[in-house]
Amino acid sequence: MNGQTPATASETRVKQDLDRLLPLLNAKLTSRFEHGEAVRVGEAIRYSLEAGGKRVRPMLCLLAAESVGASVEMALSGALALEYLHTYSLIHDDLPAMDDDDLRRGKPTCHVAFGEAHAILAGDGLQAEAFAVLASDASIPADRRVEAIILLAEASGWLGMVGGQALDLEGEAVESYGLDHLKTIHRLKTGALLRASLEIGGVLGGAESCSRGALRSAGAYLGLAFQIQDDILDATSDAVTLGKRTGKDAGKGKITYPALLGLDGARQALADATENALCHLQSLPKPESLEAWARYLAGRKV
Ligand code: IPE
Ligand code: IPE
Ligand code: MG
Ligand code: MG
Ligand code: MG
Repeated sequence: MNGQTPATASETRVKQDLDRLLPLLNAKLTSRFEHGEAVRVGEAIRYSLEAGGKRVRPMLCLLAAESVGASVEMALSGALALEYLHTYSLIHDDLPAMDDDDLRRGKPTCHVAFGEAHAILAGDGLQAEAFAVLASDASIPADRRVEAIILLAEASGWLGMVGGQALDLEGEAVESYGLDHLKTIHRLKTGALLRASLEIGGVLGGAESCSRGALRSAGAYLGLAFQIQDDILDATSDAVTLGKRTGKDAGKGKITYPALLGLDGARQALADATENALCHLQSLPKPESLEAWARYLAGRKV
């Protein structure tokens, strides 16, 4: 390990992956939203996409393709689709009817900058383009594209992210919900799209079925870990560091890991979910980058 601690080695690998792959992603990210009659919606979409964000889902998608021996180019349209879908989910999550937030990715939220109607439409537009970018990538065999589209639809629809968002909102200020219900919320609102990020990368990269299974299982645990850490950061970090308001979950009486288990319990659950993800990743042909990301995400500060 060259004298490095494991955490530092993971961070180094993650940084190398970002240096190598972000330019590829960023070069394509906004091109679908530059020419059109509805100029202000296009502006709102580009504003939210370009505000930043960690790009976790597209990176996991590209790295999942590599982990099964494919080139990242095979998974590029999947990576774009995931970031469009995710950015739409954030724009809508911040709306007054949902979490009512005014800061996202270090900037005023989309509805604060462009108005509520345009923010709703920006989200709708991003969602449609997510499916369009995948469907129209002629460099990928059609059967793989169809499979990836189905995975994205299931992960983002009412049996996935949308359903989880509904349960999250319905659970505000309900004190009787327990850990099982919280796991369901997290599996749906965040876990489904994280899991799909790995699976879609695998499918587009032509993964064998046992690798598909490993990516699916690892993705589910990574998704849970990601939302537990999001809950922990909401309770312990600050807006300058995160680029979004903190303390909101407790303020709204949301059901979260720290609320149910305390901070130590939440940290233990995060470590357990990460360990489970690592267990499944190790059977992949080339697991090193995804393993580094799993470790890095468990310790992330933003
Ligand atoms: C925030 O996601 C919302 C959750 C699902 C927890 P990210 O933490 O990935 O947000 P960005 O993309 O970096 O802004
Ligand atoms: C959001 O969860 C999940 C989705 C956007 C699907 P949160 O509401 O906890 O995300 P943040 O904390 O606002 O980023
Ligand atoms: Mg929310
Ligand atoms: Mg929110
Ligand atoms: Mg949160």
